[in-house]
Amino acid sequence: MSKDRVYIFDTTLRDGEQVPGCQLNTIEKIEVAKMLEGLGVDVIEAGFPISSPGDFNSVIEISKAVTEPVVCGLTRAIKRDIEVAAEALKYARRPRIHTGIGTSYYHIHHKLNSTPEKIIARGIDAVKYAKTFVEDVEFYAEDAGRTDNKFLALVVEKMIGAGATVINIPDTTGYTLPEEYGKKIKYLMDHVPNIDKAILSTHCHNDLGMATANTMSGVINGARQVEVTINGIGERAGNTSLEEVVMILKSRKHLNLETNINPRKIYNASRLVSTLMRMPVQPNKAIVGRNAFAHSSGIHQDGVLKKRENYEIINPKTVGIKESSFVLTARSGRAALKHRLKALGYSFEKDAIDSLYEQFIAVADAKKEVDDDDLKALVGASSRDIKRNLHLHRLQVLCGKGSVPVATVTIEWEGTIHSATAEGNGPVDAAFSAVKMIIKKKVKLEEFLIQAIHRGSNDLGKVHVRVESKGQVYYGFSASTDIITASVEAFLDALSQTV
Ligand code: KIV
Ligand code: ZN
Repeated sequence: MSKDRVYIFDTTLRDGEQVPGCQLNTIEKIEVAKMLEGLGVDVIEAGFPISSPGDFNSVIEISKAVTEPVVCGLTRAIKRDIEVAAEALKYARRPRIHTGIGTSYYHIHHKLNSTPEKIIARGIDAVKYAKTFVEDVEFYAEDAGRTDNKFLALVVEKMIGAGATVINIPDTTGYTLPEEYGKKIKYLMDHVPNIDKAILSTHCHNDLGMATANTMSGVINGARQVEVTINGIGERAGNTSLEEVVMILKSRKHLNLETNINPRKIYNASRLVSTLMRMPVQPNKAIVGRNAFAHSSGIHQDGVLKKRENYEIINPKTVGIKESSFVLTARSGRAALKHRLKALGYSFEKDAIDSLYEQFIAVADAKKEVDDDDLKALVGASSRDIKRNLHLHRLQVLCGKGSVPVATVTIEWEGTIHSATAEGNGPVDAAFSAVKMIIKKKVKLEEFLIQAIHRGSNDLGKVHVRVESKGQVYYGFSASTDIITASVEAFLDALSQTV
């Protein structure tokens, strides 16, 4: 059985652009429009031409810039709006005017101060007038979500009779439940006599977090156009997100529905819109959020390593994300650590992994997230540690304003435990003096360099030292979230080579 097509109507540049602070200039809008064309959307709602000269101009430029998708301009059911939209769309290869009026009790009585009969008459006039400019006219019944179904069916019938090719059933206030919205679409499919002459469109807002669920319910019940935005941006809590609907239709094959979207371009589309509109994507946003393919618990990481499908219903590559990521935290297991180390080019025997894992957990406890730089530092420190004959067992430091820095160091040196306590002009100096009391060797610290890998106060500190003994130079390195410990470890690393 061939699949039914669901048309993607993208309103990122109209409903999405209404978001405060998200306004784009014409050049940016053209960039987004071209991206949408490349993504494969069927309709681009380019703006609301009467609303401002900038919007008018953008609709003109977008009409010139894209060839494949229908370019659509929004209007109210007002003649002047329709004339201005028609003018703005004059360069579009496939123009559409999207006109409409409120149909709910609230809108008719408290916004438009009108009657149901007058609303129908205004709608018919608007559709007929728009038809004198373009063939393709979409009608929206604003606040259809809260409109009585019987009245809505009459509105839809009359607008199709007037020539509307698409009828938009907006849940303007994001109020309906998926079941209600689906029933509304089904009611229209079953009760509007000329429904076969038009396509029903969903336009759901996310005020109660149900936009995608409502859209899907509408589609399951017969709607064949969905009005969506990239990243779900839009008025108030936003609109249905394009990526969610597209990936639902792609993942749930039994629905037998398809779109023209190339899913591999989804991630880049999301990044572009987020960057240009200066609107960050929430980390846990479905499909495109930073954590959408990031696994952090040890059980999940292990499961994904055994078979990706254990915890992933979508291959990240399908939406243009290179790979799933493992967030290495104190909850990660050895399998995830080994996997990440392998990706960084390191391979270890079991014993070495066990010892590295202990150090990894210590860093993870202190730092929360362990990144690649931290791992490289750990590997560097630990591979040297294995070869060393001086091992730090315990370090206790007393320092701070108004106190003389004192350090007690306990070291294992060729199987024997040694301890010493010393003062210094700072905690590192005190600890180094204690180490020297144990080693009893004439060594000169020639260089001491301490660096944070990133910037946070919870960061790993990397310490490099250069030590001179009997005319020879030795280098030591270590990394830890405790910089005094890292310093002593680096010192021992260098001294190991002298004893
Ligand atoms: O949410 C809504 O009702 C709208 C219409 C103008 C289509 O955006
Ligand atoms: Zn809307």
